[in-house]
Amino acid sequence: MSRTIGPGTALCCVVLHPAGHTRSPAMHNAAFEALGIDAVYVAFDVAPAALGTALAGARALGIRQLAVSIPHKEAVLAHCDEVDATARRIGAVNTVTLRDGRLVGTNTDWIGAVRALERATELRGRDAVVLGAGGAACAAVYGLLERGARVRVLNRTPGRAEALAARLGADGAGSLDDLGRVPCDVLINTTSVGLREDCSPVPAAAIASSAVVLDAVYDPPQTRLLRDAATRGARTIGGKWWLVHQAAEQLRIWTAREAPLDVMAGAFDRAGA
Ligand code: ATR
Repeated sequence: MSRTIGPGTALCCVVLHPAGHTRSPAMHNAAFEALGIDAVYVAFDVAPAALGTALAGARALGIRQLAVSIPHKEAVLAHCDEVDATARRIGAVNTVTLRDGRLVGTNTDWIGAVRALERATELRGRDAVVLGAGGAACAAVYGLLERGARVRVLNRTPGRAEALAARLGADGAGSLDDLGRVPCDVLINTTSVGLREDCSPVPAAAIASSAVVLDAVYDPPQTRLLRDAATRGARTIGGKWWLVHQAAEQLRIWTAREAPLDVMAGAFDRAGA
């Protein structure tokens, strides 16, 4: 890093556990450098039992910009002084900003998902299918509904899909086997299937050739699902773009600057090489 760290340098961080292979520091530091912002971004490995203490420490240290990653996104709500309506509805906070001594929580995961999709398609009036019913699915469903899509949630455990759909007001729910039987202009995988393995949560034949397919899994960049979708003639978007766009929105919240998307995407790639 060629930047100089001085007395005025702001500290931004992500808290997660285990620290593992987060690419957020690479993306944010590259953006700070490109924009000439005097800040550094570091990762802190915080065990679940220490989350409250970590937040209190961030407040005491005046760390104004704090990202929250797995497994803390739900638990952190209890440690914020204020949580906006979006994060409350999704049930997860991934972005905390210190404002006048108050920790304010919001969520940029949903906007990451919709902006990644909007690289390839409009969402209003489209039929979207979300695979999975965990935290990433909540953010995706919220974002798709915000943008005016019709949303169906399909999950290995259909009961979880039904609960998520009912809570967020989605249009339907079912099992993974239902893909192919429901209309699907936009398909998002939020299950962990395909993560560092050559597997897909759904058979290739169930993917509509006219669909736009986004995989939350970013490692490998070309998952089995995306390869199958491309073979079927569908358009594909790698999970990298979900992460880049959610980080770009964090940067906008924290600095009021437009994010250099390509710089952040390049840093993301290099961090995984
Ligand atoms: P996150 O909060 O990161 O989205 P999560 O809450 O652990 O993660 O959810 C993981 C999702 O991947 C769930 O929808 C899970 O399905 P179940 O609700 O049936 O557990 C899905 N998932 C994980 N392994 C799977 C597999 N082998 N096949 C199909 N779905 C799987």
